[in-house]
Amino acid sequence: MSEQTQEKSTDESANGSPKPTSPNADLKLDFASFWEYSEAPESSDHVEITERYDHFINGDFVKPAKGRYMKSVNPATEEVFTEFAEGTSEDVDSAVRAARRAYEKKWSRLSGKERGKYLFRLARMIQERSRELAITESMDGGKPIRESRDVDVPLAAAHFFYYAGWADKLNYAFPGRTPEPVGVCGQIIPWNFPLLMLAWKIAPALATGNTVVLKPAETTPVTALKFAEICLDAGLPDGVVNIITGAGLTGAEIVNHPDVDKIAFTGSTEVGKIIQRSLAGSEKKYTLELGGKGPNIVFEDAPIDQAVEGIVNAIFFNQGHVCCAGSRLLVQEGVAGRLITKLKERMETLIVGNPLDKNTDIGAINSKSQYDRINNYLEIGVNEGAEIYQSSNTIPEKGFFCRPTLFTGVSQSNRIVQEEIFGPVLTIQTFRTPDEAVEKANNTPYGLASGIWTDKGSKIFKIGRQVRSGVIWSNTFNKFDPTSPFGGYKESGIGSEGGLHGLHPYVKLK
Ligand code: NAI
Ligand code: MG
Repeated sequence: MSEQTQEKSTDESANGSPKPTSPNADLKLDFASFWEYSEAPESSDHVEITERYDHFINGDFVKPAKGRYMKSVNPATEEVFTEFAEGTSEDVDSAVRAARRAYEKKWSRLSGKERGKYLFRLARMIQERSRELAITESMDGGKPIRESRDVDVPLAAAHFFYYAGWADKLNYAFPGRTPEPVGVCGQIIPWNFPLLMLAWKIAPALATGNTVVLKPAETTPVTALKFAEICLDAGLPDGVVNIITGAGLTGAEIVNHPDVDKIAFTGSTEVGKIIQRSLAGSEKKYTLELGGKGPNIVFEDAPIDQAVEGIVNAIFFNQGHVCCAGSRLLVQEGVAGRLITKLKERMETLIVGNPLDKNTDIGAINSKSQYDRINNYLEIGVNEGAEIYQSSNTIPEKGFFCRPTLFTGVSQSNRIVQEEIFGPVLTIQTFRTPDEAVEKANNTPYGLASGIWTDKGSKIFKIGRQVRSGVIWSNTFNKFDPTSPFGGYKESGIGSEGGLHGLHPYVKLK
């Protein structure tokens, strides 16, 4: 049954696609007319981006064997940001060979204390180049500079610091057992948190004595190549870290290389399943961090204003390109009307635009294909009979931008409720009883992250035990810390990253 809230119906443009509704007359605040920020763009003059980037293999930047390059676009301008090498089986093979040599001759023989020193150095050098890395991340991928500067880059450094600390204490991590490295790790990362996902993958692998071949996503390869420069500056032994660029085919070459001992993948559930199928029957270890459709559950006794901030953070952070986003709001009936009105008012104040502007809340959608995918879901939602609401913000004409969007009047079986949209799009459902909230929260193929908003501690524990989800935030959302494990149930993946748990996939216990 579809739940009703008092929304206005959506205008439809001539071609039938959803058109943003203008700010509702019932919203009394007109932020645009009395509250306007001047532009505050971060300067990118000092950031050096070369015209072309090569692979990083065995401590050297190496041209691709087939000589082919791909383009990475700045999604806020639609201009080419740089070119990068397209990795083929030859490139992957030389990277894996380099990683194997480095593993056998050098890295696995170093003491934990020595490995730790390198990791501390990498962490400090990320901090030293943090401004450059943040700007690069925002230009290559479209995320607001405030987020790359205050979240992505500091957290990436924090992951290296954290796992540096474990490098010489592994015997305490696994009392009574002898942890040994796995060997050569193939690591494939997505475009939503490029440098941070690199840190999640490389830091624990190196701390435990493994070497790596990592492939960044094809829309955001540059910070990984800047990290390669950091590895050189840090004097990391050749071949310990190798970066191969390219798209899905290059990723598949890494997955299928016979001399890779472990695969760590973060990305879509669809590709996760392909990888799992190709690894079935092999001896390779693997971890898969896949999609999500996180429920954000707001009870009547929750602090409503805080919950509104939490909802905004849960779904509009990083344009909603977050696997653990709170993309399904479940709100208790008695407060639904009030909460939705406040949420719409808050959405009117969100600034959508230039990712390099320090005022920007919502930057550019990462790529044209993701932009099309999100717009397709907006059409699906409208065709499924849901009511769409978009904020009335102005958005730049050029670039891939999407207004923050709500869908009300949705039902559990709608595709926009079941499928990961990976954009600034929130579906809203109501519930009457805690049981109904739990039933709806658990009713998708995913189980990655959830939020619970209530004044009652006991309710947090009771509901938290019933919601099948790897991460549960209460009265907050999207909080990350290297000491805390992260992973999901069901189609959200296999294995955990972060914290002590994040060491397990990178060791064999004797
Ligand atoms: P994707 O899963 O294709 O890309 C992630 C990474 O996997 C990239 O580095 C890509 O080059 C690589 N890859 C692609 N095919 C591969 C293969 N067969 N073998 C090995 N590596 C392969 O994700 P895509 O197409 O960019 O995004 C589509 C949807 O996936 C998004 O709309 C979103 O719903 C979801 N997604 C989820 C992420 C998450 O963190 N949970 C991250 C990225 C995408
Ligand atoms: Mg790009």
